[in-house]
Amino acid sequence: MSAFTGITVDREALIANYATVAEQVAPSGVIAVVKANAYGHGATDAARAFVDAGAEWLGVADIDEGIALRESGIDEGTRILAWLHAPDEDFRRAAQYDITPAVSSVSQLSAAADSEVGAVHVCVDTGLSRNGAVESEWPELFETAGRLARSGSRTRVEGLMSHLSNASRADDLDQDAALQRALDGLAANGIVPDMVHLAASAASIAVPETRRDITRVGVALYGLSPFADRTSADLGLRPAMRVTAAVLRTVPVRAGEGASYGFTWRAEQDTRLAVVGLGYADGFDRALGNHVAVRIGDRRFPVVGRVAMNAMHIDIGDADVQVGDEVVLWGDPANGDPAVEEWAAAIGTINYEVVARVGRSVERRTT
Ligand SMILES: Cc1ncc(COP(=O)(O)O)c(C=O)c1O
Repeated sequence: MSAFTGITVDREALIANYATVAEQVAPSGVIAVVKANAYGHGATDAARAFVDAGAEWLGVADIDEGIALRESGIDEGTRILAWLHAPDEDFRRAAQYDITPAVSSVSQLSAAADSEVGAVHVCVDTGLSRNGAVESEWPELFETAGRLARSGSRTRVEGLMSHLSNASRADDLDQDAALQRALDGLAANGIVPDMVHLAASAASIAVPETRRDITRVGVALYGLSPFADRTSADLGLRPAMRVTAAVLRTVPVRAGEGASYGFTWRAEQDTRLAVVGLGYADGFDRALGNHVAVRIGDRRFPVVGRVAMNAMHIDIGDADVQVGDEVVLWGDPANGDPAVEEWAAAIGTINYEVVARVGRSVERRTT
């Protein structure tokens, strides 16, 4: 039987990672971040695993992702927070699906209240310069929130959030201090949120002062390290994603002959290539060729030539590799698989990007 071509996600690893993170940040809680199709792991199954592991909150980028979770069966017993909204966002959908929007402006807060959303979190920018109201906008936003509370609006300001840059410990603590100013500003308008949240994976591990009431953790739950100088194993985490592909065919190549577009690789001696059916259309960067190695059996073999739209080539030399054999692109290095960080380093990026970019064209199985 031919090997599976696709992503296998280890549900037990997701559950174990959740437990590891939850224990580490306690008494702070954990919002399990499952945006971007759960960083490529498959949002429905990953969300289910985290809920089964004890998550009371899931975090997504936008309301559409939240609706998809609700429609896949995540019921209202689990809260869903969504923080990025279109300019003309229809917050009635948030109300309808019981999704909690984080609002970054007076207009978003007013639109959420007009839509009778039950609870909102106020999102403030404390330095990332991305989402969230900037400090000059706080007085008007907080006054509006105060007025809303006094008016008996159905919409309650339940939380206050911001997001860190992870530029340095000092920068993160500066952002934490700014968040405190926001909290004080809300209090001056009669609002004391139930939950304040700031830290994501990196700070929740490395800057415990920023954990506040609850952390929003993504990458660590998938078993990946947010740090360049610490591995998953160093953090007690298990990478949950394993990418495998079946050998589609083997091709003999003579010394001097090339492979794939542009012949960025030529055989130094007679050899054989194995072709697998994953390429840049599936999210595997074209530039990876000649820079990473896969595992077949107990050995490593280099990916050679340019990664094509739907295929990549592996130089298998005279190894006994047959059509249908399993090629492991990456998995848990604790089991001898290549690490996703090798794939990230090969193209000058981070593990986050490599896992998140594996396309929806690639089949996912959660086991
Ligand atoms: C607002 C927000 N919170 C939390 C996270 C989770 O980050 P991480 O995967 O580093 O834990 C993200 C992801 O980028 C985010 O955008």
